[in-house]
Amino acid sequence: MRKVGIAGVGAYVPSKILTNKDLEKMVDTTDEWITTRTGIKERRIADDWQASSDLAFQAAQCALADARMEPKDLDLIIVCGVTFDYPFPATACILQDKLGATKAGAMDIEAGCTGFIYSLSVAYGYIATGIYDNILVVGSDVLSKITDWQDRSTCILFGDAAGAVVVTPFQGQGELLNFYLRSDGSYKDDLLIPAGGSRNPPSHKTVDERLHYMKLNGPEVFRLAVRVIEDAVVALLERAHLSKEEISLFIPHQANIRIIQTAARNLGIPLEKFFINVNLYGNTSAASIPLAFYEALKEDRIKKGDYVMLVGFGAGLTWGAYLIKW
Ligand code: UT7
Repeated sequence: MRKVGIAGVGAYVPSKILTNKDLEKMVDTTDEWITTRTGIKERRIADDWQASSDLAFQAAQCALADARMEPKDLDLIIVCGVTFDYPFPATACILQDKLGATKAGAMDIEAGCTGFIYSLSVAYGYIATGIYDNILVVGSDVLSKITDWQDRSTCILFGDAAGAVVVTPFQGQGELLNFYLRSDGSYKDDLLIPAGGSRNPPSHKTVDERLHYMKLNGPEVFRLAVRVIEDAVVALLERAHLSKEEISLFIPHQANIRIIQTAARNLGIPLEKFFINVNLYGNTSAASIPLAFYEALKEDRIKKGDYVMLVGFGAGLTWGAYLIKW
């Protein structure tokens, strides 16, 4: 097996900012409620014309430039998210065309907000076994388009973004060391879009009943999130024979600052070791972890040789973690 590493990292957020004060004018909420219950102050909202592949394109270009690579160098493109451009074809194919990645295969992976961790593990497998050399992994989501802007319990939570990495045989940076993936579909009803798929095909009735928007059982997902973050961190540390003290930075899925605080406390890990940007972007689903990873690098929170752990959870229920040595 070959060693595998991250050769480039990129991200993109739309320029339009929606603040808590703006939301006060849209639904019955307050900046104070949103800030204290979630830690979110503002989020980015895509333009009407922007779909998942448009955000992914920007993040991909950024990551390719960072890796000093051209689109034609790519062997495979993986896009993960929950708001793909169309039910089919794959958003990865649309991105392949936009980039002009003429030698690349393309596929989407849907694992909710844990999509980036799942996708990295797939890229790892192809490269470690020598099948492919250069794989682009993009987490992109435009949650504003599946948010019910009349539902105050969800519309305050989400934002739009994309984050990308180029994965290659190890070149001295960002070694992908080990990962842990789990799922429990018995919790599917706690976070889903009820209609629009083959279970409840779209109809006037499903639209009238607003079933094409995200539904979230907030308190239940909160409870599950704390539990599975702890599970993933403990399990991956054990698998990698490392102690929590040896991890320099945890990069958790950014859903709610209170989820991160509670998990950190339960794990006995100082909150300062968790990278947090939920205040600026809200929950951006599959983009959340690569966007946070990109910002942590830009802010110099990750030094050469550091152990970094990505940890996520999301619809499915899915959860998992990835250990990287930078
Ligand atoms: O990527 C994974 C996706 N999702 C998550 O990770 C979300 C996980 N869950 C959460 O982050 C939290 O459960 C929420 C932020 C969604 C909600 O916070 P909470 O502390 O669990 O509040 P709650 O749902 O128990 O609601 C408490 C009260 C309710 O009023 P009553 O029944 O106590 O009178 C809600 O109606 O807060 C009310 N409420 C609001 N009030 C003002 C709900 N949303 C709002 C709002 N503004 N936006």
